[in-house]
Amino acid sequence: MERFLSSPHGRLSCSGCHSYIEEKGVKHPDPKLLGKASTLLYDYKRCEKCHPEEHQRYLKGAHAKALSEKKKDAPTCGHCHVTHYAAAGQSRLELGKWMTGMCGTCHPVQKRSYLENYHGKTAVHLRYEASAYCTDCHGAHTCLSLKKREEALEACRKCHADAGIRFTEFVIHASREGLKKEDIEKVEKVRIIRWIEISFGIFVFGVLAFFYSHTLIWTLRKIHERLKKG
Ligand code: HEC
Ligand code: HEC
Ligand code: HEC
Ligand code: HEC
Ligand code: HEC
Ligand code: HEC
Repeated sequence: MERFLSSPHGRLSCSGCHSYIEEKGVKHPDPKLLGKASTLLYDYKRCEKCHPEEHQRYLKGAHAKALSEKKKDAPTCGHCHVTHYAAAGQSRLELGKWMTGMCGTCHPVQKRSYLENYHGKTAVHLRYEASAYCTDCHGAHTCLSLKKREEALEACRKCHADAGIRFTEFVIHASREGLKKEDIEKVEKVRIIRWIEISFGIFVFGVLAFFYSHTLIWTLRKIHERLKKG
């Protein structure tokens, strides 16, 4: 109760959300309810009454589509928000940290590539608020895939106001993991990025190896000269 009362829903009465004690046709206190995750039983359409905008956006997005196609782990409100204890008025940094972890539980590959990307490094690791978190690009409730260039451009322009369509060629999630073969263009780009990374690795290693061996041989020569003089 303490945590519930300090949440933004703390002022609501229980019956605001549990208007009848029945979830998806199963009446409380039915033993059938025990052992089932309450997120699976709750009818999240009831959130619409007070949050119509979020609900509408959610219905337009990739997650609602995945849910209607009965995909495993497709999230509804309850997968992302712990309704009783949802925190309110969090700062942008707190929200960003929370969502990187939360979205990352189901999209670990994208979380990893995001954190290796400029935006992830600055926003999450360096706490630079102006940089982009997942939802700045994808939208928290619409969650667009951004594979269409025009959609991606609209997202980038929120912050990069004068970006042109070529700006979207920049690869945000530069990872080969989980890429489908049909995605030829991205597979090719990631291959080039990887290749550049490897060549730079070899270049840096080569420079260091040359530098250290040069110094070593130089030192040997100096010692040799001293011994000769001595
Ligand atoms: C803002 C809406 C809302 C309010 C207000 C609310 N609940 Fe819930 N409750 C939910 C949702 C949604 C779930 C399903 C689990 C989830 O998504 O967190 C749930 C689940 C539950 C469960 C199942 C166990 C659990 O925690 O998962 C119990 C018991 C419960 N609520 C009791 C209460 C009581 C008692 C109150 C009043 C003090 C209350 N609820 C107020 C939305 C609400
Ligand atoms: C009876 C109305 C009502 C219902 C039903 C309701 N909410 Fe809320 N919710 C509110 C109010 C009021 C606030 C506080 C808004 C504010 O402070 O701006 C809130 C705040 C929130 C917040 C936090 C917003 C923030 O400031 O970050 C989340 C998340 C949220 N609700 C999710 C849900 C979910 C999920 C459900 C469905 C299980 C739900 N709500 C059902 C009234 C409701
Ligand atoms: C995929 C995860 C996800 C799902 C599903 C989801 N939300 Fe959210 N929601 C978020 C994130 C992340 C934020 C805060 C960050 C932001 O606004 O960019 C948020 C913010 C909110 C807020 C605070 C106000 C706002 O718009 O920023 C409310 C209210 C809310 N959600 C309600 C809901 C309701 C109701 C549903 C179900 C229809 C829902 N959410 C489904 C991730 C989700
Ligand atoms: C409970 C698991 C879960 C959580 C949490 C979750 N997602 Fe998803 N997400 C999915 C599933 C399942 C799909 C559908 C995948 C598919 O169509 O193959 C999906 C699809 C997507 C897509 C579209 C991908 C496409 O190829 O069309 C985007 C973008 C996305 N999620 C972003 C997010 C973001 C951003 C968050 C956090 C705010 C988030 N997701 C949280 C499970 C989750
Ligand atoms: C700077 C903008 C930006 C940020 C921040 C961002 N993404 Fe993306 N995301 C994109 C773009 C653009 C695409 C489409 C191109 C692609 O697949 O690389 C995409 C694609 C995706 C997809 C679909 C991939 C697929 O192959 O189906 C998912 C899922 C996703 N992002 C999740 C996330 C999650 C989770 C986060 C945060 C941890 C995040 N994104 C942060 C821009 C962004
Ligand atoms: C929420 C804001 C935000 C969004 C949305 C966003 N970015 Fe950024 N991005 C930044 C900030 C801040 C920087 C740091 C450089 C600066 O201040 O211009 C940056 C830097 C970059 C850089 C490094 C190059 C440079 O200008 O120094 C690239 C490339 C980039 N973003 C691409 C993208 C792409 C592509 C998208 C859309 C898919 C996108 N960004 C969406 C905020 C954002």
